[in-house]
Amino acid sequence: MGSYVPENTITNRDLEKKVDTSDEWIIERTGIRERRIALKNQATSDLAYEASLIALKKAAVKAKDLDMIIVASVSGDMPFPSTACLLQNRLDAVNAAAFDIAAACSGFIYGLSIAESFIKSGARKRILLVGVETLSRFTDWEDRGTCVLFGDGAGAAIIEPSADDSGIMSTHIHSDGSLWDYITVPAGGSRLPCSRETISKRLHYINMKGNETFKVAVKTLESIALETLEKNNMKASQLALLIPHQANLRIIQATAKRLGLPMEKVMINIEKYGNTSAASIPIAMVEALKVGRIRTGDYILLEAFGAGLTWGSALIKW
Ligand code: ACO
Repeated sequence: MGSYVPENTITNRDLEKKVDTSDEWIIERTGIRERRIALKNQATSDLAYEASLIALKKAAVKAKDLDMIIVASVSGDMPFPSTACLLQNRLDAVNAAAFDIAAACSGFIYGLSIAESFIKSGARKRILLVGVETLSRFTDWEDRGTCVLFGDGAGAAIIEPSADDSGIMSTHIHSDGSLWDYITVPAGGSRLPCSRETISKRLHYINMKGNETFKVAVKTLESIALETLEKNNMKASQLALLIPHQANLRIIQATAKRLGLPMEKVMINIEKYGNTSAASIPIAMVEALKVGRIRTGDYILLEAFGAGLTWGSALIKW
């Protein structure tokens, strides 16, 4: 695995100067202290490239040996071509089929589920999966309800068949399109193409019903964790680590409590990066590996929730 976050840090104190907010409010309501924001010359594929280079190096895999590249993102470089194809070009991964998937914050889990199916069916042997976002470009920096939440970053994984019983045990993905309007970027697509009006109404930025989303998130994250444990005949106490999507510390704490998991078994780094959407789980995984919180034989549960609405989980034996 590999991860990358831009060098540019924006603290809560910096945001106090832009909108009517406070360091105290942001920490208390979200757990976020600072976030990384892409430099002007960095787009989503640039972040993906940096994380992918590290993952390839760590796995001792050459880009030419990749047979698939999946990029999970809702903030691609442009409507088309896919960010995955731009990444393929940068890496010179000439033997890969490359495509993007849009499942917002659940994107990395959706990508894992797709990769799992391709690998288990034998159709593909070496897949690069990248969760990456540059949501700062879609953030309304005048809206205190959303601009304090998001950050930019990328996390990459190389997925191959395993020789023993380690690896992805199961993945579970769900959606509820009836709640599509909870988190949107309303304009810029075929419904509301870019116009003077869409720009003046600030419709190209993230619009979120935060409180409503919060409630659905807590409920669905508990149910998907239980579904995953049940499928594998396991109890929450057998998990070595829960790595949740980092959207809000209170959502993470509420989910852990409902599962009866002590917070020592929960990976949290939201204070440093905010909500990096599809990138948050792989960034947290890389960090957990670095500090020795994931060891061989450990059962790790990943879970995420995001726009769509979408949610998903993956149980991994490391
Ligand atoms: N600073 C100060 N006050 C604020 C701020 C801010 N940055 N933002 C909102 N407030 C105010 C509101 O205006 C409101 O004031 P009022 O009571 O006078 O109207 C008050 O704080 C409470 O607002 P709520 O929206 O009810 O606050 P809440 O406790 O729900 O926290 C938050 C808001 C952090 C957005 C929370 O609801 C949340 O995390 N929701 C889930 C987000 C999520 O998981 N999204 C999914 C992933 S995103 C994706 O897929 C791209």
